Amino acid sequence: MPKQWLRARKQDHFYQRAKRERYRSRASYKLLEAVKKYKFIQEGNIVVDLGAAPGGWLQVSGKIVKDQGFVLGVDLNPITPLKTDYIHTIIEDVNNPRAMKRIKKHLPSLADAVLSDVAPNTIGTWEVDHARQIELASRSLEIAIYLLRPGGSFFVKIFQGDMFSIFLGKIKERFRRVEILKPQASRRRSAELFVLGMGFQKNAD
Ligand SMILES: C[S@@+](CC[C@H](N)C(=O)[O-])C[C@H]1O[C@@H](n2cnc3c(N)ncnc32)[C@H](O)[C@@H]1O
Repeated sequence: MPKQWLRARKQDHFYQRAKRERYRSRASYKLLEAVKKYKFIQEGNIVVDLGAAPGGWLQVSGKIVKDQGFVLGVDLNPITPLKTDYIHTIIEDVNNPRAMKRIKKHLPSLADAVLSDVAPNTIGTWEVDHARQIELASRSLEIAIYLLRPGGSFFVKIFQGDMFSIFLGKIKERFRRVEILKPQASRRRSAELFVLGMGFQKNAD
């Protein structure tokens, strides 16, 4: 990794805070801020976290749902197990057509919330990175539609760009309330935004 990047990371407030508070990623604070404001994850909930490695969002979700809840982390890469028996992880590619069925088999019932921080390997070319991110976010939306209970929530990362409004429209078709967030832990220079859909409507077709 470039030295400059490593130095900037060490000086980063949320990186330091995550180390102090034993979160696996600074991304944890993005979810924490959103949940604190909109309370879309609650005690006892069933949560699916797509693109979950290294596990920061799993830790946040686990602390909220507590032992009556259930959290399932999904990632291409293995996730070092969390020492909490209601947080589970599986290795899965969200692009695999069979992924949603396989994920569902691991759940005790439909999910109250589906989260997606799935991110492509960025190449630095704006249009390509944006298109790949929207593709992954759209795939996450399809999985959420399959897994959510009526009234459930979907929280997804996207990169801003010209395909965003079409994606937002798809979310608006399915969720009664939609919010766009730029949490404090999301770097200001980053094109990243989060969309939160609440009040999932199962039969909106
Ligand atoms: C920004 S990280 C997630 C950080 C996580 N929210 C946390 O708090 O620790 C994005 C993750 O998306 C995963 N990912 C990328 N493409 C994926 C795919 N097609 N299927 C599943 N996971 C994928 C990557 O492996 C990576 O771990």
